Amino acid sequence: MEVKTSLLDNMIGVGDMVLLEPLNEDSFIMNLRNRFDHNEIYTYIGSVVISMNPYRSLPIYTPQKVEEYRNRNFYELSPHIYALADEAYRSLRDQDKDQCILITGESGAGKTEASKLVMSYVAAVCGKGQEVNKVKEQLLQSNPVLEAFGNAKTMRNDNSSRFGKYMDIEFDFKGDPLGGVISNYLLEKSRVCKQPRGERNFHIFYQLLSGASDDTLMKLKLDRDFSKYNYLSLDSANVNGLDDAASFRTVRNAMQIVGFMEAEVQSVLELVAAVLKLGNIEFKPESRVNGFDESRVKDKNDLKEMCELLGIEQSVLERAFSYRTVEAKMEKMSTTLNVAQAYYARDALAKNLYSRLFSWLVTRINESIKAQAKTRHKVMGVLDIYGFEIFEEGDNSFEQFIINYCNEKLQQIFIELTLREEQEEYIREDIEWTNIEYFNNAVICDLIENNQNGILAMLDEECLRPGTVTDDTFLDKLNTICAEHQHFESRLNKNSKFLTDHSLPHSCFRIQHYAGKVLYRVEGFVDKNNDLLYRDLSQAMYKATHSLMRQLFPEGNPAKVNLKRPPTAGFQFKASVGVLMKNLQTKNPNYIRCIKPNDKKVAHIFTDSLVCHQVRYLGLVENVRVRRAGYAFRQPYESCLERYKMLCKKTWPHWRGPARDGVEVLLTDCSVPTEEFAYGRSKIFIRNPRTLFTLEERRRACLEDLATLIQKIYRGWKSRTHFLLLKKSQVVVAAWYRRYAQQNKYQKIKSATLVMQSFIRGWKARNILRQLKYEKRCKEAVTTIAAYWHGTQVRREYRKFFRANAGKKIYDFTIQRIMQKYFLGLKTTTMSPMDNSWPAKPYGFLEGAHTQLRRIFHLWRCKKYRGQFTEEKKAVYEEKLEASEIFKDKKALYPSSVSQPFKGDYLEIQKNPKYQKLNSAMEEKVLLADLVNKINRANGKGSPRLFLLTKSNFVLADQKTGQVKASVPLPDLASVSVSTQSDGFFALKLKEGSASASKGDFLLSSEHLIEIITKLHRIGTTAADRDQINIDISDEFLVQFKQDKVCVKFIQGGPKNGNSAACKRKNNRLLEVSVPSP
Ligand SMILES: Nc1ncnc2c1ncn2[C@@H]1O[C@H](COP(=O)(O)OP(=O)(O)OP(=O)(O)O)[C@@H](O)[C@H]1O
Ligand SMILES: [Mg+2]
Repeated sequence: MEVKTSLLDNMIGVGDMVLLEPLNEDSFIMNLRNRFDHNEIYTYIGSVVISMNPYRSLPIYTPQKVEEYRNRNFYELSPHIYALADEAYRSLRDQDKDQCILITGESGAGKTEASKLVMSYVAAVCGKGQEVNKVKEQLLQSNPVLEAFGNAKTMRNDNSSRFGKYMDIEFDFKGDPLGGVISNYLLEKSRVCKQPRGERNFHIFYQLLSGASDDTLMKLKLDRDFSKYNYLSLDSANVNGLDDAASFRTVRNAMQIVGFMEAEVQSVLELVAAVLKLGNIEFKPESRVNGFDESRVKDKNDLKEMCELLGIEQSVLERAFSYRTVEAKMEKMSTTLNVAQAYYARDALAKNLYSRLFSWLVTRINESIKAQAKTRHKVMGVLDIYGFEIFEEGDNSFEQFIINYCNEKLQQIFIELTLREEQEEYIREDIEWTNIEYFNNAVICDLIENNQNGILAMLDEECLRPGTVTDDTFLDKLNTICAEHQHFESRLNKNSKFLTDHSLPHSCFRIQHYAGKVLYRVEGFVDKNNDLLYRDLSQAMYKATHSLMRQLFPEGNPAKVNLKRPPTAGFQFKASVGVLMKNLQTKNPNYIRCIKPNDKKVAHIFTDSLVCHQVRYLGLVENVRVRRAGYAFRQPYESCLERYKMLCKKTWPHWRGPARDGVEVLLTDCSVPTEEFAYGRSKIFIRNPRTLFTLEERRRACLEDLATLIQKIYRGWKSRTHFLLLKKSQVVVAAWYRRYAQQNKYQKIKSATLVMQSFIRGWKARNILRQLKYEKRCKEAVTTIAAYWHGTQVRREYRKFFRANAGKKIYDFTIQRIMQKYFLGLKTTTMSPMDNSWPAKPYGFLEGAHTQLRRIFHLWRCKKYRGQFTEEKKAVYEEKLEASEIFKDKKALYPSSVSQPFKGDYLEIQKNPKYQKLNSAMEEKVLLADLVNKINRANGKGSPRLFLLTKSNFVLADQKTGQVKASVPLPDLASVSVSTQSDGFFALKLKEGSASASKGDFLLSSEHLIEIITKLHRIGTTAADRDQINIDISDEFLVQFKQDKVCVKFIQGGPKNGNSAACKRKNNRLLEVSVPSP
């Protein structure tokens, strides 16, 4: 069931000022403040919405809110701008009534925001679809573009609209948007050249410089630094909470969505750049012969860049800043401009350029957003126009005059339409019309716009009049013509009333607007109204190659020279306001009155005086009075009955019959005085809010009783239901519990049975298992016995064939394997006869073979080794062998000789020329030649002799001369004696009776003793004709010197004489040789 709500529910203060009791300015403001403090920024006056600027974002614009207000009656929910938007949209869609939404209020009161909220609401609730969404998007995106070019930061508002805007949104019969048309009013173009302190130029300049890419800026010949441009105020260039760079991106994006071509955007930016450049052009005076100063461009760089940007010939523009052509009666005259005039011309050009660019933008946007379909459209107009503007200390000028005139007109249609609507409703509802007293401001409008003697008409007359025209002449004219007007005040007029009014300066006039008195300073009125741009300049602009520029200055076309003056600013404005008013009058008005709570642009502050001022000039209390003049409150019978039916037993809880009759019964029952209400066709009209509040009060009390009753019944019902539920639950729970208990019991029995069953089965199974195991064992035992038995049988059988021969074969094979392994193991032994290593014997039975093999192998490798010898080497080894046989273990000198090779010829007798003679004396080959010592018997000292040995004799020769001292044939040699020690002494004993014996034996010592003796022995062995020479080895022997026999005795460790043995004669028969100990 849909819950019926009302504006009257949970109201803070009163949601509709019409219900305010008592109604006066204070209570009005108190109510606003009360609601503002509770974040209720919207309040109604009937169908008018008052909107307080919260200066912070409130969570009341969410999609949920849109849904909440969608298709709900105006008074059903607490006041909201969405309620107004919804009402307007629905009556447009369902009742085919064109609507207009008029948003007024002073700068910063939130008009633009309100207009955007209305548009976004309508966009959210109207139809959907690709085409429709595109249209919506284009309509919404036109805002950022126009705001960038038409809004600026002012002292009152960081995003102040500096133009008036009226937008018609067109819908088809289904309520889907088709397109729109925007009209703009009076852009504040003076801002382009000069901004009041603390204010900025239009946003686009800052956005372009902050947000454009370096490349774009280079193309536009611009610098990012604001301070480079005279037209940009610097002290407030950066605004808190405003990101110019981001806004630039938004604007470019919006332009793209709206349908601007890339080239168009570029052209627009070029013109913006041109305005900045224009501001940088400066002039200097140049004296002329005629005594006048003529202006010249100071630094031509900016001029040059601007001309390049727009494709204007520099000299043409330069000339236009120095001369002016005046045409009169087909005659052309050229006059020079002084510096002040040049600056005036420059600024006029900049202002015109910018404002024309702005108008072009509006036209261009209109082109994009215009409705395509030719069918009849329903229209919703949204008017966001500058509110009433009053500057302190009479700083109001032409602009304020125009703005206030516009507001005056709006107020007029507000009154007209409100009253008309009221009247229409009375007629519709068949209620008797009571005349309402109100102030009609038509008289003020007349003062301003009257075609004969209105202020605007006189200003135009003054501007067009030949002769000297100044602001003062204009004021004079006003003073004479408007003197009698009750809303016009001036110090200089005939009306003596103001002669002594010092609050009214001489250069000012004052108008009593419906919203209060405003003092206008007359200075600049004529100029601003004329809005003069020298034709030379517009012609220069027309000559530009930049196509958009040419389009903006069509009057510069020399082919269309029009000597007629262009219409004045005032005239144009009056005309456009006239058109607007006509347009608005055809529509159903909806009002949003915006109020600014404080001057600081901050949240939560409510300045009474400021609000009071606005409430006063917006005529809001007046508005309530008008609204209440007849009946303060009206409501359809159905809603009224629905809301108050509980106040009467007959209508409660249901009234079966027409709603009107129900209301009648209800009101009679409640004893409401009959003069307090009137019955309309569909609505009940209540004269006083008090009556309504009494009804509300009674309703509240009744609701409390009803609430108690409902609570009582509800509690009873709840307890009963609860009890029944408990009871039902208990049955269910008990049933479930029983089931559960039985299930448990069953489960227990089941599991016990299973246990028992399993035990019995187990026992049975074990018995069977035991039995089976026993049987299995028996079977296995039998099988094993049988197998063994069979085995024995079979083996017995087979042994005959198998075992008899197999043993030997295996044995042979094993032995073979062992031998093979053994022989392979022997491979590791080396061929060196010196190598004593031999593998260990692997098996005991191989012992004999192992030793034999080792011996045989050794012999064999020795034989192999010997086989490699040459004959000489063989001889050497034979000698060595012989030496070993003679001396080994017999003489101590022997071991040291083993390693010395037997060289034989130590003297190199054949080669040495010293012994040539000796050599030739030798008949045979010398087998050995060495230096020996012949021991003298007398003193035991040795004298050196050469010792030569041939096959048949040995020779002793003088060492120096080589002369042969003795030559003894070997057969004469009987024996050789040597000691057992390590000395080199030897005695050559001759055979007694031989030819040589006469000389006596020789006692010699040599270093090569072993070799000499061996060779001697060998010759003896090999010669067939001789006996073997005896070799006597003992430490004492006799030597037969010529006559005597002398004993030679060897003592070990005798007196030291170096390392060699020393011989000493001891007595006649004893020579003692002491041999050093080894
Ligand atoms: N409903 C709102 N919710 C939150 N902030 C708001 C609301 N209305 C206005 N404001 C704030 O107040 C500022 C001024 O509002 P807005 O620009 O709409 O004023 P205006 O009446 O159009 O002024 P002007 O006449 O100078 O154009 C906004 O920039 C915004 O910060
Ligand atoms: Mg605005």
